[in-house]
Parts: sequence; structure tokens; C-alpha cells
Amino acid sequence: MKKEKIIIFDTTLRDGEQSPGARLNIKEKVEIARQLAKLKVDAIEAGFPISSEGDFQAVNQIAKTVKGPVIAGLARILKKDIDRCWEAVRPAKRPRIHTFVGTSPLHRDYILRKSAKAVLKMAVEAVKIARGYTEDVEFSAMDATRTELDYLCEILEKTIEAGATTLNIPDTVGYALPEEFGELIKNICEKVPNIGKAVISVHCHNDLGLSTANSLSAVIHGARQVECTINGLGERAGNVSLEETVMILKTRKDFFRKYTTQINTKEIHKTSHLVSHLTGVPIQPNKAIVGENAFAHSSGIHQDGILKQRKTFEIMTPASIGLKESKMVLTSRSGRHALSHRLEELGYKLKAKELARAYKEFEKLADKKKEIFDEDLEAIVQDDISAIPETFHLEYIHTSSGSQTVPTATIRMKKEGKIVEDAACGDGPVDAAYKTIDRITGVKGKLLDYSLRAVTGGKDALGEVTVKIKEGKEVFIGRGTSTDIIEASAKAYLNAINKLVRKRRTKG
Ligand code: KIV
Ligand code: ZN
Repeated sequence: MKKEKIIIFDTTLRDGEQSPGARLNIKEKVEIARQLAKLKVDAIEAGFPISSEGDFQAVNQIAKTVKGPVIAGLARILKKDIDRCWEAVRPAKRPRIHTFVGTSPLHRDYILRKSAKAVLKMAVEAVKIARGYTEDVEFSAMDATRTELDYLCEILEKTIEAGATTLNIPDTVGYALPEEFGELIKNICEKVPNIGKAVISVHCHNDLGLSTANSLSAVIHGARQVECTINGLGERAGNVSLEETVMILKTRKDFFRKYTTQINTKEIHKTSHLVSHLTGVPIQPNKAIVGENAFAHSSGIHQDGILKQRKTFEIMTPASIGLKESKMVLTSRSGRHALSHRLEELGYKLKAKELARAYKEFEKLADKKKEIFDEDLEAIVQDDISAIPETFHLEYIHTSSGSQTVPTATIRMKKEGKIVEDAACGDGPVDAAYKTIDRITGVKGKLLDYSLRAVTGGKDALGEVTVKIKEGKEVFIGRGTSTDIIEASAKAYLNAINKLVRKRRTKG
């Protein structure tokens, strides 16, 4: 069966950039456009050239430098907008002018203050001006879903006559329901006599969370272009997200067997992260396809299922969106199977008895912490932490530091039953504490790694420090927790030193 191509028109740089807080500079816009070209979108709406000098420059730069997709600019149905838009997009190999007007009674009466007849005349004129510049002209009937059907069909017919090659049907306020929107597209196909001369496009906003369902319902009923954004960015609740639209068509090809897109889905993850990073708009963790948790498994039953057969709890592979692997989040709900799997990935092959002990330790720790990280597992495997006889025990620590003082630490420790006290200076309070510990213990391991994490939330968060020290070929991991991060740091270092000392003794 010959598949019909669904044109993916990306408006991240225009509608997406209208999101509060998502401002991008020209360089960033060009970087995103380049990535969109790698993703193989069919068209990039690069901006709204008349809206500002910066927008003009960005569209113009993208038109000059980004190869592959059609480069479109937005313009109201005003000659000055269309002229400016053309100036910006004309260097592109395939430039498009996208002109729009609000067609619903609300827009005509309150925003434009013009009659339906006058709006229609202006729209037709605008399309003709745009066609004077390029053969690729898109016309959008803004707020189409709240426009009288007969009037909408009339304006579509007349703008096709005037030369529009793509007709966009926006659900500007995200009001439509999937059945209704599909029906609207079907009606347009039946009632607009020359509709065969143009591509029907849809542009759905997500105010009621229905933008994806609406766009796909439109596809089923005849739309062949979907306007979307990366991560669903856009005005208010955003636009339909590119990754959802494309991955639904791919994953449910049993249902959408007639359709295809040219998107290189392996670039989805990278594109999504680039857009989030440059706009500063975070991706919600449970966002479909690209959220941090979209390929993460936390429950023991799910983890066990995934390890036995991925398809039990995954309908897409992480690789299909360019992600290396699914994530197993180790928590108190994780089972032995997930633990041993992760340990094996870290290079530890445990015997049944060792695994049973490690799992007990894991359960104890998981009761205290939300998530168990790789360093925690390494510490569990390396030693039964709770059973380490403490050669050195921290009794007291005092540090002083500041911009005008030399950081110093005073530490009191119990060393095999005896109290010892010392002090040292360092580059900072942690360094001073570590130097003091070295003086008291007489042990100096090479510090390989130091990491600090908040174990609990809020102002009184418990800080957890993990350190790795090395003596010869051996690495010792130490951990310490406290509401005071200097104390947590000292405890972690001392914990590693106690392990090192014990190892020396067992070696004899
Ligand atoms: O939402 C909308 O109607 C738009 C148009 C400019 C296409 O963004
Ligand atoms: Zn929009």
C-alpha cells in the first residue's frame, strides 16, 4: 500500500517561542533550526518577521543557512507584514509565506472590528500579494473551530482561488473535541469544491489536553500537514507536541497504516533536550515520549517484567527516540532481580549468598532514601557498612571559614578508645577537615571523587556525601550524612579511611 505522507510543520521557533519565559536569541534560534533539520521536519516556521528586528534577523539567518526544510515566516493579512516576511524568507531554497487572520465572529467583531465580507476580501488580497512573491503560500483561518462553517468554507475556497497552497485550520483556543474536529475536516473536504488543490493543515492548541487527539482525528479525516512544536511549547497550554504526534503514527502503525512521516525519530530526544536547555523551559518528568520518566521503571513488578521481556511494560524502545537505554530507578519497591541486574551492569557478579546480604542492606537503605544511586550500591557491595569496626570515630568538628579568614578545622576523634584532637588549615572548610583527619589518622588516601546530594527536601535537608579514596590499586567508598554538609563530608572521609585501615589489617 502506498503510504500518504503527513507533513510535519514545526512552529517551535514561532508559536513555541511565544510561551512565557521561552525567549531565544538569534544564535539559539539558528541552533534549534539546524537540529530541526537533522530531525527532518518538512517545514520550519522560523518566526514572525514584522514583529521585531530580532525576529526578522532570526528568520533571515535561518533562511540563509539552514538547508533541507521549507522555511516559513508568519504575516498578518497586511501588505507590510507580507513584504517584510518575504524579505526575511526569500534566501531560503524553499521559502513559504504564512498569512493569517481571525475568522470567527469573536475575532471579527472584537479584534478586527470588520465585517465577514471585509475580512474575506482582505484575506484574498493578502494571498494574492504573497503569491506574487512565492508559489508556496499558507493561509490560516485563526479560530477556525469557532467560525461559522459556511463562512469558513467560503474563505477557504476563495483563498485557494487566490493561490493559497496550504490551508491551515487552527483550533486556536484548544476548544475542539476529537470527533468534532475530525468532522470539521471532513466537512471542509466535502464542501470546499477546490480543496483538492491545497494541502489541509491543522494547528491544535492544548488548552483541554486534546491537541494530539484532535490533530490525529484530523489526519484520519483528510488533514495532511500537522503544525506542532517540540515539547508541546506554545501559547498558554502549548501546541500539539511533535514527538507525540510522530511517535503515535509510528508506534500505532497498525492503526495508522496509511500514513507515514519523514521524521528521523532517533533525533527526538536530543532535539527535545536542546529546546528545553535553550528556552529554559523544563520538561515535565512524566511528559510522554521525552520526559525523564518516560522510559523509567520503578515498581518491582515492572522492573522484573522489563528484564524478562521489554515489551511487557514498554511500547516503544528508548533507542527509537535516540535514548541509550531505559532507566531502572532503584527504590524500596525494587526487587532482587533489578538489584542484581544493576550490580552486574556495574561489574559486580555476586553469588546467591552475597546477593542476599546485599539485598538486605539495600532494603535498609531504601527505607531511608527515596532513590538508591550507583555509589550507594558500590558501597553496599564493597562492604557491610554497618559492620565496619570503627578504628576512628568522629566526636566533634568545628570549622571556621569566610572571605577574610584562613579556613581551619578542629577535630576531636576517638582513636581505639583514646581521645585525640588536632587542627589544620586548608583551601576551604572541607579541605581543612580532611587535612586534620589525615593528621590524626596518619592515613592519606588519594581523594578520587567527592559528591554531595540532598537526601531530603527543605531547609533542613539531610546532606549526603560520598567520597572515593585510593590506596595502591584499591578504591574505598565512604558515605556520611548530616544536616551540616561539613560534618557529612568529614564522616564520609572517615568512613572510607576506616575501610582502608581495616583492609590493611586483614592483609596483615
Ligand atoms: O493558534 C493560531 O491560530 C495561530 C495562527 C497564527 C496559525 O498560531
Ligand atoms: Zn497557535
